[in-house]
Amino acid sequence: MNRPLVLSIVCVGCLLEVCCWQATPQEATTVVMQTKEGTTEPEMVQQELPVRFGFGQRATRAEIAAWDIDVRPDGQGLPAAAGTVAQGRSIYAQKCAACHGPTGKEGPFDVLVGREPREGFPFGKSMEFFRQKTIGNYWPYSTTLYDYIQRAMPQNQPGSLQAHEVYSLVAFLLYQNEIIGPDARLDAQSLPLIRMPARDRFVRDNRQGGVTFR
Ligand code: HEC
Repeated sequence: MNRPLVLSIVCVGCLLEVCCWQATPQEATTVVMQTKEGTTEPEMVQQELPVRFGFGQRATRAEIAAWDIDVRPDGQGLPAAAGTVAQGRSIYAQKCAACHGPTGKEGPFDVLVGREPREGFPFGKSMEFFRQKTIGNYWPYSTTLYDYIQRAMPQNQPGSLQAHEVYSLVAFLLYQNEIIGPDARLDAQSLPLIRMPARDRFVRDNRQGGVTFR
């Protein structure tokens, strides 16, 4: 085979295959992985891309905003709204208790409430502890709770919760896990300040050498 075999092609590379017949100016470049001729060694190769591919349309600000819902560990991305433990209690009863139990401990689906009373961090060490991960004993960031609930819960209607409902649910679940008090009110400023019990139980994977998977 004379032409180098394309080992892995990023999506952009696939588009290039489909669209490069169009007579558009060749200005941009992309980098793809190819095998070096005569070897099995991969190497980075620059390829030219057309300026426009000739299909699709520019995303509007509203379309981008609708997808741009991620909340980062430091709280970046949290919307301006607020919620309380008391409000969360009633929303939880209506929208969550059927799957997670009246107090968050009963299931039938994931147990959300519970603190790890034992010393150490037994998860992963034994199947006995496999099912016992909860918000109180495992989650390292309070803000991830906001991110997860707004995008994934309730499981039968994800994306249906308003921001104030999500803050309220986060407040209720943190209260149930004995992390905040019964009168707490959470918003974009106060939520990132909550330090989770499991925060320091994770270590960075800083191993060096060998094949790296991240
Ligand atoms: C129809 C059932 C159902 C409903 C209703 C539901 N959940 Fe869930 N929830 C699940 C299932 C199933 C999972 C596990 C999903 C997975 O692992 O991918 C889950 C996972 C979660 C988790 C992550 C648990 C963990 O530690 O991994 C949280 C937090 C959560 N739900 C909160 C809520 C909240 C808050 C509500 C109410 C707004 C809610 N859920 C409503 C079924 C449900």
